[in-house]
Amino acid sequence: MSEPTQKPTTPPLCDYEGSSYRTDFWEGRGREYEDLAERIALRRLLPPQGERLVDIGGGFGRLVDLYSSYAEVVLMDPSRSLLAEAQQRIQRPGMTYVAANIYSMPFPVAAFDTVVMVRVLHHLGDVPQAFQAIQQVLRPDGSFVLEYANKRHLKAIARYFLGRQTENPFSTKPWEFQPLHFDFHPAYVTQQLRQAKLTLQRTLPVSYFRAPFLKRLIAPGRLAAMDGWLQPLTGWLPLTPSVFTLSTKSGGATSLSDPLFRCPRCHGAKLVPESDILVCLDCSARWDKSGDIYDFRQPLDSAR
Ligand SMILES: C[S@@+](CC[C@H](N)C(=O)[O-])C[C@H]1O[C@@H](n2cnc3c(N)ncnc32)[C@H](O)[C@@H]1O
Ligand SMILES: [Zn+2]
Repeated sequence: MSEPTQKPTTPPLCDYEGSSYRTDFWEGRGREYEDLAERIALRRLLPPQGERLVDIGGGFGRLVDLYSSYAEVVLMDPSRSLLAEAQQRIQRPGMTYVAANIYSMPFPVAAFDTVVMVRVLHHLGDVPQAFQAIQQVLRPDGSFVLEYANKRHLKAIARYFLGRQTENPFSTKPWEFQPLHFDFHPAYVTQQLRQAKLTLQRTLPVSYFRAPFLKRLIAPGRLAAMDGWLQPLTGWLPLTPSVFTLSTKSGGATSLSDPLFRCPRCHGAKLVPESDILVCLDCSARWDKSGDIYDFRQPLDSAR
């Protein structure tokens, strides 16, 4: 007797809807150094140009100005309020705003030549499912730039040996130090990338100087420049709290799939615009696209 096929369940979401993430965490919060150091790493790892890039969990679009050489940029996030904030801030043409969860993305196979995901893995309880989803939407020969929070960083190692932290920073198991906040061991991330058939090409340890006294003593620009100098030298042993990686999907480059969207419920490609909604001709799901944000989190209703 054949086993009933089970749809993977959607893991819980760390919900940023309505959050003031930009002003609570970034602006005026003394994190200019981290922002600048991350930009140095991202610039190094991003292919210099491309056709279509998606920033998964891109939030309020903090990093969008780094994608200027891409014709099309998709900012995807489950938080519609953060996307609305991004819309207000971002002026460049070729932007598409998509409210969706990584576990149920509304894109066909090979929709992007570049996928970026920064400070998001930190909130994902199912890394294999997330990497699998990324591998699917990436075209062969495409690039995946990932940032993750590293559990094996110098401060954690010191804390562990001083008895101030019980979690062993050398154990490869993900560490959920508070609900839906995970730090990962580099070996775990490498193994999960490999399992998803993504080939790790480069690793840049980032945020060497994330210590309040250093940030008080040295200007953010100078600290980030020093970070940028160290990043390429130490990829073989990441000991920083943040790590950037570049992975690729093997295979000869193919053209990007068109159209951009597929129905996340039935995977049908026939989505027809009707005023402020997209209607799926295969399963009748109706997806909101009011205010120029495509909302694929929940269909409006499916009984038509
Ligand atoms: C710490 S913020 C980072 C935002 C942006 N990447 C940046 O670096 O400024 C985490 C983001 O991940 C998004 N996120 C959380 N869970 C997600 C999921 N399951 N799928 C996609 N994005 C998710 C949140 O909505 C939030 O915008
Ligand atoms: Zn459908």
